[in-house]
Amino acid sequence: MSTNSAKYSAEQLEIPKDSRLWSPDFLFGTATASYQIEGAIHEDGRIPSIWDTYSNTPGMVLNGDTGEFACDHYHRWPQDLEIIEELGVQAYRLSIAWPRVMDAKNQPNPKGLAFYKRLLEALKAKGIQAYVTLYHWDLPQWIEDRGGWTNREVVYHFAEYADLVSREFKGLVTAWATLNEPWCSAFLGYAVGRHAPGRQNLRYATQAMHHLLLAHGTAVAILRRNDPGAQVGIVANVGAAVAETPSPRDQDAAYLFEVQHNDWVLDPLLKGSYPADLWRLWPGAEPLVLEGDLQTIAAPLDFLGINYYFRTQVKSDGRHGFIETDMPGVERTQMGWEVYPQGLARLLKGFHANYRNLPPIYITENGMASDDKVVDGRVTDPSRISFISRHLLAVDDAMRHGVDIRGYFIWSLLDNFEWAYGYERRFGIVHVDYDTQARTWKDSGRVVQAFMKARPSRT
Ligand code: FCB
Repeated sequence: MSTNSAKYSAEQLEIPKDSRLWSPDFLFGTATASYQIEGAIHEDGRIPSIWDTYSNTPGMVLNGDTGEFACDHYHRWPQDLEIIEELGVQAYRLSIAWPRVMDAKNQPNPKGLAFYKRLLEALKAKGIQAYVTLYHWDLPQWIEDRGGWTNREVVYHFAEYADLVSREFKGLVTAWATLNEPWCSAFLGYAVGRHAPGRQNLRYATQAMHHLLLAHGTAVAILRRNDPGAQVGIVANVGAAVAETPSPRDQDAAYLFEVQHNDWVLDPLLKGSYPADLWRLWPGAEPLVLEGDLQTIAAPLDFLGINYYFRTQVKSDGRHGFIETDMPGVERTQMGWEVYPQGLARLLKGFHANYRNLPPIYITENGMASDDKVVDGRVTDPSRISFISRHLLAVDDAMRHGVDIRGYFIWSLLDNFEWAYGYERRFGIVHVDYDTQARTWKDSGRVVQAFMKARPSRT
């Protein structure tokens, strides 16, 4: 039981009084993803995903952790929704597990669909807007067995999936995001093997990216047709780079880092072409692109979700690429990631300047991991409060420079399965004890709650 008698206030976030962040028109939310929280991987007809396979392969995930139980959200979702309601945020970003709602013939699984229907109806009843991601990395394993994202066939499977869920959940979703962070799926999954499916071939990665983006563009039309009242967009992770020295070669290395992390995804989506400089970095790794693909990929979007976490220092590798270098003495999180909110503001202003048709932006993920412990019913996480505060100020800065930003989602509602890092890295504003499944609010959660209470409600 909680013995916590600490006091929390909105002022702890240090948001200036004249900031748009105080307006109820600016959306606040928290985010999660299916594989990271649900557990219940064998229940109600769910079929294996690439993350089940990958996490069960020795040496792939820290401490051999898997998503088998995770936060047991599949059973505890009513309690988790109460936490979101108590937090007072307007929106919740979640993802649907494709392997739960369709079987190994890509036919509907009614029990899996019923789970999300209950969840989405409960959110609606509470007045919490659902921001739903179709693909947050849990590809059905049977599709990977046929080549996964490297096989163009996946686009048609994904289209069927998008069609099914948008018909089933029509009217319950405020915004659909087709994909979460295609860069991670393609690069970490197929080039360097740090994520499922663990393949290591650059050509696979560029082809996988092309099919991911094509699946996105194909789904956009389907989502619009089936659920015309919902917004449709995509979520991209973006990275900021700094050169180790002012030398032109190192500056170019930093530029190429951002081309690889950001433009590889955003250029096809917003300009209908891959950035030419990407092939300077990766000569000969161009994907096979068929006529009409890029038009499909560049379908207009209602919003762009941006996930931002950190900055990376790089130098030239002496050839045509970059290598990451150590930056001693900077502030870092439990992930080892540098805390650098200015990077978020700079990137947002840059996208605003670079893309003529940049859609409205939501920060769909931002947050940090720390080694949080429950002591006397309380979790003291001042570094997270400061992290959120400083990144909100970066968002405020970008908005004051004309960038159209509509909302901010904290990653994450709960501590959860942090992919290759398992359960050791804690991103939640609510702590999870994985032995008992007890949820304990962290101080950061209480401060966000105080901020939400202090904001005027919409009239
Ligand atoms: C992002 C992922 C999300 C979470 C955070 C920390 O890359 O989208 O699932 O793991 O990083």
